[in-house]
Amino acid sequence: MTATICGTGSYIPSYTMDNHDIARLVETSDEWIRERTGVIRRHIVRDETTVSMAAEAARRALADAGAALEEIDLILVSTISSNVVLPCAACEVQKELGAVNATCFDLSAACTGFVLAYNTALAYLASGVCRTALIIGSESLSNLTNWKDRGTCILFGDGAGAAVLRADAAEEDRLRKHYLPVTHSDGGKGAALTCKSRHDFSGLNGGGKEISPEDILDDAHYMQMDGQAVFKFAVKRVPEVIGEVLELNQVKTDEISYYILHQANKRIVEAVAKRLGEPMEKFPMNLQEYGNTSSASIPILLDEMNRDGRLKPGQKLVMAGFGAGLTWGAAIIEWR
Ligand code: ACO
Repeated sequence: MTATICGTGSYIPSYTMDNHDIARLVETSDEWIRERTGVIRRHIVRDETTVSMAAEAARRALADAGAALEEIDLILVSTISSNVVLPCAACEVQKELGAVNATCFDLSAACTGFVLAYNTALAYLASGVCRTALIIGSESLSNLTNWKDRGTCILFGDGAGAAVLRADAAEEDRLRKHYLPVTHSDGGKGAALTCKSRHDFSGLNGGGKEISPEDILDDAHYMQMDGQAVFKFAVKRVPEVIGEVLELNQVKTDEISYYILHQANKRIVEAVAKRLGEPMEKFPMNLQEYGNTSSASIPILLDEMNRDGRLKPGQKLVMAGFGAGLTWGAAIIEWR
């Protein structure tokens, strides 16, 4: 048995910061940011939270799928920037929606998170444990961004994307090809991209030291990145894992309509296209508008393409995520 994405949705905060706004905070320029990353502006939460954005993206995905709330029996939220620790963001989304029949939990795998949420939902649906899943990537990375660090604050933005997956019930659908994903992790290289928990006060109060706000929010509590190491990792591992997933499923590159990559950096997307020998037209990008929204970037892009009519039934798409962990992975979707 396999499953199908039958609806998508997204939510983007209306407040924006363009590169000129960033250049007022750190020593940088619009020209440098555009040239090195492709980002022009990013949307930033004001009144929204990771949970409220997730719930709104979910409502839009449910409407697009024509899915009833009672039908949803699994809600997965991929996030590294939830405004709640307990209960999990997925339970908060369940409460906001009133999807009372769902089992809910969060996943934390940074920019690979949505691909892993998709794989997890697929496994639940394929095994018959669940029938309809709501998967969401939602991030308010602006809360984890050190706005004094020009190596990172130029990159990130906030937003949420969601998709509804249904287990295929019709006989002909059940006989359709089932594409297996490929995912990898290398915890040994995790130091390339880190962020300490706001709840990790270890080392601060040892020895009876009084904790000050400055201590709690030292630089380690914001995202810290070895940009070049992450860049090199991405341009090597992403084409590799796409090659693996294609080979595993006996799918050729000319069968793929679009490669929906995590939107981290224009130069990474271009390098992946070049290494795969595929034309840039197959690599849609929206990072110029939103920056890197981590686990939200793939479902936001998927939703845009669904709504503007670029996605057509029968098309094969590759989703590929990569990021902190380090983690990376790819999955093939047949659009219906
Ligand atoms: N503005 C102006 N100059 C800058 C800036 C800036 N914002 N940032 C760095 N520089 C300077 C550096 O100091 C350096 O100067 P120097 O040559 O005098 O020492 C020069 O520009 C080049 O710096 P690099 O770090 O080599 O710049 P690079 O071309 O690598 O671009 C960037 C940096 C954009 C961060 C890039 O490395 C990148 O995109 N890396 C990948 C990040 C990523 O994709 N992360 C995804 C995962 S995120 C997640 O999982 C949450």
